[in-house]
Amino acid sequence: MINRRDFLGSMLSTVVGAGALGIPRFSLAASGSDDPYDYILTAEPADISLVPGGVTHALCFDGGYPAPIIRGRQGKTLRILFKNRLNEPTTIHWHGLRIPIEMDGVPFLSQPPIAAGEDFLYEFVPPDAGTFWYHPHVNSIIQLGKGLVGAIIIDEAEAVDFDHEEVLLLKNWHVNDDGSFSEFTSPRNAARMGTPGRWETVNGQHKPTFPVPAGALTRIRLLNVDNTLIYNVAIPDHSAWVIAIDGSPVDQPYPLQVHAMGPGMRLDLALVTPVAGELVRIKNAKGRLMFDLVNLQAEASAFKRQTVPVKPLPANPIPKPDIEHAETVNFVFEWEGAISPADKDGNSDPKFWTINRRAWDKMTADYIPDPVARLVLGKNYIFNLRNNTPNRHPIHLHGFIWKVLNSNKKEIVPFHTDTVLLEKYETVQVAFVADNPGRWMYHCHVIEHMKTGLMGYIEVV
Ligand code: C2O
Ligand code: CU
Ligand code: CU
Repeated sequence: MINRRDFLGSMLSTVVGAGALGIPRFSLAASGSDDPYDYILTAEPADISLVPGGVTHALCFDGGYPAPIIRGRQGKTLRILFKNRLNEPTTIHWHGLRIPIEMDGVPFLSQPPIAAGEDFLYEFVPPDAGTFWYHPHVNSIIQLGKGLVGAIIIDEAEAVDFDHEEVLLLKNWHVNDDGSFSEFTSPRNAARMGTPGRWETVNGQHKPTFPVPAGALTRIRLLNVDNTLIYNVAIPDHSAWVIAIDGSPVDQPYPLQVHAMGPGMRLDLALVTPVAGELVRIKNAKGRLMFDLVNLQAEASAFKRQTVPVKPLPANPIPKPDIEHAETVNFVFEWEGAISPADKDGNSDPKFWTINRRAWDKMTADYIPDPVARLVLGKNYIFNLRNNTPNRHPIHLHGFIWKVLNSNKKEIVPFHTDTVLLEKYETVQVAFVADNPGRWMYHCHVIEHMKTGLMGYIEVV
């Protein structure tokens, strides 16, 4: 047996050059593997330019923003040698991937925090294809807020047919006019919808126009990597089809109207780009108004597509929950009221939000509470998710993909997701098979809500 540290040590000496896409790769001669899905990923402080004429002292993956897109293939081993070159501990979580708990990147629950200057090898086989993302799970308001967010895309085992692809990361930055960071949170905001960043960007640019080939069957992967905001994505002047929600293919693609994406959520669209010179305008709907998010401008190309062939993406191998025999577990998400920080100096975070009347507001080695539920490995469960607040909460469970069954507020065509956006006072039922053992984080993805109580974990044994 070789322990992880020795393994890592031997591997460090076999690092070789850079791969395609400008992402450094390494090869592991000793493993006998010739898979090309090996990456080195470094988190480090970096100066980037977001606002005109300003400099932002950000935290970045591989020295810039947007972070490199990590690409793997369904069923193939993916290795990411992560280097923490921040001035503080961190971990990296692979949001939406159903992988073993040891690779889930949550401090204390799944691994010790990776200290400043240390490395950790993440290695797993992604079972599902789709649009996922990665981010730290330590000091999240700051680490995510300052830029540590990126896309991880798992290609289908059998290639699907698209001419072109766009990966679009939606994020509002908490920056002043000179690019310096402004306040990421305040107790007042944390107790409400959270603190919105004022500088809206797509892939780090404000209302950008990106070139795309004309007449191309295009897959658009939208990722809400923001700490706080819900984007209501619409393309009013051009037809687009929803093909996957939060990484999971929909059974039957349908035309996009307005799709609400809470923090952590993703959306895959299929469309045919227009003739050269024309724009696809992707908008953010606020009430009846539509605001520009990003434009795609068609440029002359050899593609000559007319229409989207409306067929579903291949389904992922998500186990089918047995609804008849599932056990129901109730969760109520509530507001605890204006509770001031526990110590008078204001050194601890306030607690505003609860899961089943309990808040978990900090994560340290000596402060791991009991799980909010204990599940039996292999059994079927229905989670009754009740939002007893006037705010919206994107509720996320690590390690599993839920089937959304119904809501007390709207008609649901069942679909799969790892993050359910609960409307105010909405109750949603989701079902899944508890087939992955471990202690799995279960939290609201509005990071200030998570940090002020709205988190817990589910234990599957
Ligand atoms: Cu994006 Cu704990 O998750
Ligand atoms: Cu996650
Ligand atoms: Cu929330």
